[in-house]
Amino acid sequence: MKTEQKENSRLRWIDLNPAIASVDESTDIIAGLTQNPKTLPCRYFYDDRGSELFEQICDLKEYYPTRTEQAILETYAAEIAQMTGSCNLIELGSGSSRKTRLLLEAYSEIVQELEYYPIDVSSGILKTTALDLLRQYPKLKLCGVAGTYEQALAQLPPAELENRLLIFLGSTLGNLNDEQCNKFFTQVQQALKPGEFFLLGVDLQKPIEIIEAAYNDSQGITAAFNLNILNHLNQKFQGNFFLNNFAHWAFYNQIDNQIEMHLRSLTQQTVVLEALDLEISLQAGETIRTEISRKFHIPTLISVLESHSLQALQVWTDPKAWFGLILCQRQCINTECP
Ligand code: AVI
Repeated sequence: MKTEQKENSRLRWIDLNPAIASVDESTDIIAGLTQNPKTLPCRYFYDDRGSELFEQICDLKEYYPTRTEQAILETYAAEIAQMTGSCNLIELGSGSSRKTRLLLEAYSEIVQELEYYPIDVSSGILKTTALDLLRQYPKLKLCGVAGTYEQALAQLPPAELENRLLIFLGSTLGNLNDEQCNKFFTQVQQALKPGEFFLLGVDLQKPIEIIEAAYNDSQGITAAFNLNILNHLNQKFQGNFFLNNFAHWAFYNQIDNQIEMHLRSLTQQTVVLEALDLEISLQAGETIRTEISRKFHIPTLISVLESHSLQALQVWTDPKAWFGLILCQRQCINTECP
């Protein structure tokens, strides 16, 4: 992995994002848009504009996950730091690191020098956040990693840091289907050494009205976030999606316990993505599913984690049990430990 050392000795950058769209990237878009029903990978929400819109979503009164998880961290960050002891922090999908600041504060209390690896696909938000954090935390050394969490988990050399806490907050796990979730936990298991820690934040099952309101906010920010995926594709793949021809649609699927976000075509239309040599036709009313957001049941999730040698040490929730934080420790597998 190539790192770039900046003049500030507490700051380093690693860029895992290829400048040009890779073959893999185009494959999943073509596969998604040519199947029935049509889908798009939700990671395309997060260009710089999409990341800004997501930050706005986190402040919406209807969008309870962020503030609920934040409240849990406000109460328990010190306890988490006590349980893991001195640790370096790696965060997958760090965004503005707003909740992680609570952990940075708690760890600053128990260590002399703290190392933090925020990993995000949006290098814009990563850079702004990095500079802000360095100003705020004098003990902090920071290495910003621009890339997807799959890239980062596969490429972070395991020996680079001593004892590590891998952080995955915000219920981003909910955006993965079962197969992707299993693959992700396998990558986590492979990236961590026995005894290291994994902190996972997940949104929990609750009355439908509360969940649906969170994805259909009254200010239309979630709708703008959903539509922005088309702008991103237009820019990245020379597309001609016309945003006024689509409408945001989000509902809770009670069978799979997940929110589904779609873009509904308002007319019969043909769209071209020149860079992918792809032309797609949409019927009026046809939808493209852009995201699933699963809502979890803690005991079921714990057994999945444990089947990947990630033992749940402690679960914290808010008083209404809307959101959960699970601290896991990587167990030894077979001959790894004496
Ligand atoms: C990033 N992820 C966990 C958010 C969620 O709630 O699934 C993305 C989001 N989509 C619409 N609103 C927020």
